[in-house]
This record gives sequence, C-alpha cells and structure tokens, in this order.
Amino acid sequence: MDFKVADLSLAAFGRREIQLAEHEMPGLMAIRKEYAAAQPLAGAKIMGSLHMTIQTAVLIETLVALGAEVRWVSCNIFSTQDHAAAAVVVGPEGTVDDPKGVPVFAWKGETLEEYWWCTEQALTWPGGDGPNMILDDGGDATLLVHKGAEYEKAGAVPSAAEDDPEEWKIILDLLRRTVSEEKKWTEIASRIKGVTEETTTGVHRLYEMFKAGTLLFPAINVNDSVTKSKFDNKYGCRHSVIDGLNRATDVLIGGKVAVVCGYGDVGKGCADALRGQGARVIVTEIDPICALQAAMDGFQVTTLEDVVEIADIFVTTTGNFNIITAEHMGRMKHNAIVSNIGHFDNEIDMAGLAKIPGIVKQEVKPQVHTWTFPDGHAIIVLAEGRLMNLGCATGHPSFVMSNSFTNQVIAQIELFTKTEDYPIGVYVLPKHLDEKVARLHLDALGVKLTELTKAQADYIGVPVEGPYKPDHYRY
Ligand code: NAI
Repeated sequence: MDFKVADLSLAAFGRREIQLAEHEMPGLMAIRKEYAAAQPLAGAKIMGSLHMTIQTAVLIETLVALGAEVRWVSCNIFSTQDHAAAAVVVGPEGTVDDPKGVPVFAWKGETLEEYWWCTEQALTWPGGDGPNMILDDGGDATLLVHKGAEYEKAGAVPSAAEDDPEEWKIILDLLRRTVSEEKKWTEIASRIKGVTEETTTGVHRLYEMFKAGTLLFPAINVNDSVTKSKFDNKYGCRHSVIDGLNRATDVLIGGKVAVVCGYGDVGKGCADALRGQGARVIVTEIDPICALQAAMDGFQVTTLEDVVEIADIFVTTTGNFNIITAEHMGRMKHNAIVSNIGHFDNEIDMAGLAKIPGIVKQEVKPQVHTWTFPDGHAIIVLAEGRLMNLGCATGHPSFVMSNSFTNQVIAQIELFTKTEDYPIGVYVLPKHLDEKVARLHLDALGVKLTELTKAQADYIGVPVEGPYKPDHYRY
C-alpha cells in the first residue's frame, strides 16, 4: 500500500481515540449498521480531501464499511492529526509492520508543494481505474481535476503572472508536470460520477463553475443540509473557536474586546462563544440582514476601521478575502490576537503583512507567531492566518461532525447509486434525509420528540412522518 504520514507508530493512540469518537458519532455508526448487508458503496473508489482528523477517520472507515475503496488527503496543511492519519493507514485489522487500512497522504505542517503533491497522489489510483467519486472540503481536489482537464483541452498550461498568489504558482507547476498527451486529468474527470462538498467556500466554487458551464460532474452541496451548516458551522465553531484561542495563547477571554468579522453561521457560533466567555463582542457585516440579526442578538455592529485600535481578539469568519489588511494590523493594540476560522488563509492579508519593511516574525510555538512592527508593537497571528480551530486545536468535536459526515455518506450513496438521477448540476439532499440525520442524533442526547397526531398533521399540511417543513423554511 502506498501512503505518506508522519509516524505510523502513533496508530495505537489514534485507534484508541477513534474508538472514543465512534461512541460520539451515532449517526455514522447507525448508517454502518443500516447498510452493512447492502454494501451500497461497493465499487466506489472515493478520493477524499478533508481535514485528516479523528472524526474523519470514523468517516473514512464508514465509507470502507459500506464497500468503498478510499484514498485520502487533508484539505489544509496544518489540520492533520498525525495519530489519526497513522491509525487509518494501519486500519483496525493491521499492524504497524503490516498496514491494512486506507492510503493516506497527510501530515501536520505540510509545505504547500507537499500539500498539492498529496492531493495528486490521492487522485492517482493504482491501476489507473479510479477515482470515480470525490469527497471534497473547500474544493481543492475538484479544482485540480477541473484545471488539469481544462488545460489538457487547451493543449497548454498558462504561465503564472508575477503577482499571482504563491499557491497558484505551485498548482500551475504541478499541472505543467502532469498535464500530458495521455490526458491524465481528462481521464480522471471522465470517470468521476460526482463530488460531495463539505463547506461554504467549496460550494461557492461549485455554483460558479456550474453557472459558467464548466462543471464536469454533478455535485451534492452537503454544506447546505440544515443538519450540516446550522450545526457544524455554528455549534462546531462555538466550541472550537475557544479551543483554538486557549490552546494557542491561553489568554483570559473574559473582559476582552473581541471582533468577529462576518455573522453567517460560523460568525454566529463564534460570537456566541466569545460572549459566553465574558468578552465584549463586536460584529462586522456587509449584509444588512445578518447585521440586523447581530444587533438584535445584542452585539455592537460596526466597521473594523472603527474598532481596530481597541480590540484584543480578532476572528474572521467571512469566506471572503482581505478582511484584515496589513494596514489594519499596523494599527492594532500590542499583542492583539489575529485569527481566521474561514476556510482559506486570504481573509487576513498575510502576504501584505510579510512585506512591511522592518517587520519581524518570531515563532512562539508551531502555529503561533508574533509579528513585531518597526514601532515596537506586536500582534499574535494564529495558524499563519489559516483556520485556527484546526491549526491550533483539533477542530470540531465528534458529535457535531457525526451530523456533517452522516450527510456526506448519504450524499456519496445518492450520487454513486443513483447517478442517472443527477445530471450535471449542484444539488442539496432532500429534506427527509436531512431530518433522518437529525433523528439519528436525538437518542444520544435523551431527546424525546413529540409525535404529530394525524389530525394535527392534516391541519398544518404535512405527513405525520415528515418532512415537516417546506424547502424554503430557514430554521
Ligand atoms: P456564511 O456565508 O453563512 O457567512 C459569511 C458571512 O460573512 C456572511 O454573512 C457575509 O455577509 C459576511 N461577509 C462577507 N464579506 C464580509 C466582509 N467584507 N466583512 C464582514 N462580513 C462579511 O458562511 P459560513 O457558513 O459562516 O462560512 C464562513 C467560512 O467558514 C467559509 O469559508 C466556510 O467554508 C468556513 N467554515 C469553516 C469551518 C471551520 O471549522 N473552521 C466550519 C464551517 C465553515
């Protein structure tokens, strides 16, 4: 088996944590039981690009339990938990000397070149007959296949412009090496039945490609299952934003001024958590609806420019770019904490920060750096501007990820087994499946659901067994 992880000897530790996580992931475990005999993913060759954590290990082993062959990478250079990666490679039946699990190409602290090399490895199936499915988080695997196929069609890979981001230059270099007469990427694209996408940012990319007519295979938008974005993005970040701040800096949050940029699902979770710790939370927004929500939830809403000099903690949650600029960081208080929990690292202008003449970067510990300005004041940047909850802590806890990943598995089954029902397009799972995911998590929390009587169901116009809300309902 080909794989590349940091240290296989961490597998036993990883396995113990996987066993604890399985107990906290009732949705995934119920799906394993439900489909054990049917093996709906037999024949599926799934390439996964999603943070290689303990929770993801339970997802991967669920896909395998349903019959799939899997190859995996992380979707971020800092988010891999090395013991989880090792345990997945060794597998429940294997040993360090005789690994029998799943090929993983991921370790914490990859360079960007290594990151894209890993993505290419996981997309390159031994024997050349796969993958036929992608499970993506942020859309990097989908992007590589699409760009490769596009340049093979054009017959050439374009040269990078000098001011292109470093990462784009790395991608173009990789494609220059791999775009070939044999049409490696076109072949891969033609075999793929579909992609299931985990997060807001990846979903944006998919809708853009579909609109532009360039999407090459159907996609299920897992993010917009209610049991994903209204749980993982919100309650997951409510947990892991504090975990990231604590493990990175251990500053007392109570009494501090915290700015949350963006009040979407992630922003709502972060603002709530910081308030829960006793911070005075200020929100920035561009959308009047979300700004009004933040105001009615009791937060001051203003612009970053207005508060950049008084805040102690900054968290960007927008999925947009250039939210905190180098100029903003130059005006911040001494030792202000600057962090991003959105998917990509361009929410904070790290490139602009590095270009300030005379600025000095010093590592406090991995993923925690001070940047000292020529005037002597410093800021503390978490995870080099990448998502801090996975870079500085361990991401979301198992229970909330069980909701997200149960949607992922159901979406993989849908696209793989009902391919003809999904012509090229971007779909969300039907509401009855969303409700099923929620239902699978109620018992573990001791929730007792009220059942509709037939007369009540008729009165509000829904079936007794659901779905209970129209598609336009917003929760
Ligand atoms: P969302 O679309 O619900 O929220 C983003 C909000 O930012 C929107 O309300 C938008 O109006 C606002 N915004 C955009 N530009 C802005 C600007 N210049 N200033 C202030 N506000 C601005 O998206 P969601 O689901 O909250 O996701 C946000 C990001 O977090 C995405 O990149 C997503 O992929 C990522 N994500 C990260 C997770 C993690 O564990 N770190 C978990 C889930 C999502």
